[in-house]
Amino acid sequence: MLANSGYGTRSEVRKMISRGLFCVNGTVVKDPSFAVNENDIVTAGDKEISSKTNLYYKLDKPDCYLTAMEDKRLPAIADLIPSNIRTKKISPVGRLDYHTTGLLILTNDGELSHRLTSPRYEVPKTYLIGYSGDALGQEHVRMFSEGIVLEDTDGKISLKPASLRLIDDSTCELTITEGKTHQVRRMLAKFGRSVITLRRIRIGNITVDGLREGVPEEMTDEEITELKKALGIST
Ligand code: URA
Repeated sequence: MLANSGYGTRSEVRKMISRGLFCVNGTVVKDPSFAVNENDIVTAGDKEISSKTNLYYKLDKPDCYLTAMEDKRLPAIADLIPSNIRTKKISPVGRLDYHTTGLLILTNDGELSHRLTSPRYEVPKTYLIGYSGDALGQEHVRMFSEGIVLEDTDGKISLKPASLRLIDDSTCELTITEGKTHQVRRMLAKFGRSVITLRRIRIGNITVDGLREGVPEEMTDEEITELKKALGIST
């Protein structure tokens, strides 16, 4: 609770607790494993500490899951979140298509969620793409880097510059800083390529590396701090 309230990393907070710096309901508590509940009043000196806790999880979304916290018909990522976490009202930041796999961030921190999805903050999101059609080339790298214009379902949309890295004749990596509906699929469709597999591998400083598919994992204090810093949120 203290770490989530910005008092330091978990290990720093443990040391502070052992030194007797915090009281629960007026009594000094020196045991770092002491569990506070919602109604407890935690104080440091004469300052009351809010027990509002923000939670930050990352998830490697499997194929054939909806990015939704509830769905009666289809498997949804909610099914992958243990109920004790679900009750904290965390929700996914942005959306991946049913057939897109890879990194999702889940949180109950509204400010972070807003900034991560707002194009204003230009958080880079990187996708690994398997596609069909002729191999993309340097001309596509250049056009993406200059910003392309989509003219499909929603009329004319000018996209921000995107970074395309060619891997082989049917695989590439694309980094974008906005999140229009089906953006990656539409960007490739503009050049007559079809996305066959789509996987998000990075959001800002957070990567999908090391996650077990379908198993949510809490973000580390370092990851949260770095992400907030990049978004201009004070910690
Ligand atoms: N772009 C897409 O087309 N689909 C996704 O799921 C994410 C980005």
